[in-house]
Amino acid sequence: MKLSGFGLGLRTPHYEALLNEPHAIDWLEVITENYLVPGGKPLDYLDRIRERFPVVMHGVSLSIGSTDPMDLEYLKMVRALADRIEPHWISDHLCWTGVEGRNLHDLLPLPYTEEALSSVVARVGQVQDALGRQILLENVSSYLSYHADEMSEWEFLREVASRADCNILLDINNIYVSSVNHGFDALTYLQAMPKSRVRQFHLAGHSDLGGHLIDTHDHPIVAAVWELYARAVGLFGSVPTMIERDDNIPELSELAAELNVARGIAASHTRQAA
Ligand SMILES: [Fe+2]
Repeated sequence: MKLSGFGLGLRTPHYEALLNEPHAIDWLEVITENYLVPGGKPLDYLDRIRERFPVVMHGVSLSIGSTDPMDLEYLKMVRALADRIEPHWISDHLCWTGVEGRNLHDLLPLPYTEEALSSVVARVGQVQDALGRQILLENVSSYLSYHADEMSEWEFLREVASRADCNILLDINNIYVSSVNHGFDALTYLQAMPKSRVRQFHLAGHSDLGGHLIDTHDHPIVAAVWELYARAVGLFGSVPTMIERDDNIPELSELAAELNVARGIAASHTRQAA
């Protein structure tokens, strides 16, 4: 069955509420790395939650942009988890998280060059073969760019998706954060995305540090990101949408209410687009 509607990132403080209270939450996004160890309480909760909700898997350590060999053991574990919980899809980020075996625990932007593009395309192919399915890659927020860049981030992402035949998870907040930090037009980014490959939206809050924005996922979504979301719905239609909250995590009911704002915007702008 096709995934649709409005979801949340699955977070530990919400386990019990998700299992025991009624909420208008259509699906959940599971952080892959939290459930890779067989057995134990987290996986037990996940199995029970999976009985009630459709899920997608979202990884943070694929490091598709690294120059290290792909971690085949990691991919095996991801596939085993996918076999267990049958997600609608598996996503990770268009970034690198380390080189030479060192993990920097950050989602770092790539230089947008032909060389990096061919490397990422080959690696996506390897990942899709190992997982036996197409993956979604998400745009990260960034605070730096490289002198070596030969194209824009949106051209790079579009090319990766087209050449590697993978899909796109568009993080609306990340586009906004990067557009402010680098001074580009967020709408240009959206308009460059191939409609057929945009399969999921992320929404989140960020922190404004005066000179630049940081993608902290610890605040409600700001008005400018809601406006950009409305434009995205106008362009791409009713794409499955979810809110990511990683810090200052409120009650589930508060996030469900924020999700209803997304529902309202999507309903009015999908109608306008139709
Ligand atoms: Fe995201």
